[in-house]
Amino acid sequence: MEILRHAVVLVHLVGFAVLFGAWVVEAAGQRRITRLQHLGLAIAAVAGLALAAPWGIEYDLNYIKIGTKLVVLLVIGALLGIGAGRQRKAGSVPPAIFWGIGLLTLLNAGIAVLWR
Ligand code: HEM
Repeated sequence: MEILRHAVVLVHLVGFAVLFGAWVVEAAGQRRITRLQHLGLAIAAVAGLALAAPWGIEYDLNYIKIGTKLVVLLVIGALLGIGAGRQRKAGSVPPAIFWGIGLLTLLNAGIAVLWR
C-alpha cells in the first residue's frame, strides 16, 4: 500500500513537472496557454485528490494544507480557462493571467514542500 502511495506521489510530481515545464517554455517564448499546461494540471489534480485520502500512511494528513492546495489549484484552473479564452479571442494572454499561472503553480509546490 505504501509503495502504491509513493507511485501516486510520483504521478503527482509528473503532473507538476508537465504543468510548470510547459509554462516555463512559454515564459521564455510566446507566453501562451497550451494543452500541455492543462494536461499537467489535470494529472496533478487527479493524483492530488487520490493522495488527499489517508491510505498507505501512519500519520495524520494536514487537511488545512491540502484544502489550501485545492483552492490554489482551482484558481490555476480558472486562470488557464480564462487565459485560453482570451488567447482565442484577442490572440494573446493578459500578462497578469500568464504570470499568475506560473507563480501559483510554484506557490502550490512551495506549500507542499515547506508547510510541515
Ligand atoms: C498545481 C497544483 C499542485 C502542485 C504544484 C503540487 C505539488 C506537490 C509536490 C511538489 C508534492 C511533493 C511534496 C513532498 O513530498 O514533500 C506534493 C505532495 C502532495 N500533494 Fe500536491 N500539488 C498540487 C496540487 C494538489 C492538490 C489539488 C492536492 C489535493 C487536493 C494535493 C495533495 C497532495 C498531497 C496529499 C501530497 C503529499 C503526498 C504524500 O506525501 O503522501 N496536491 N504536491
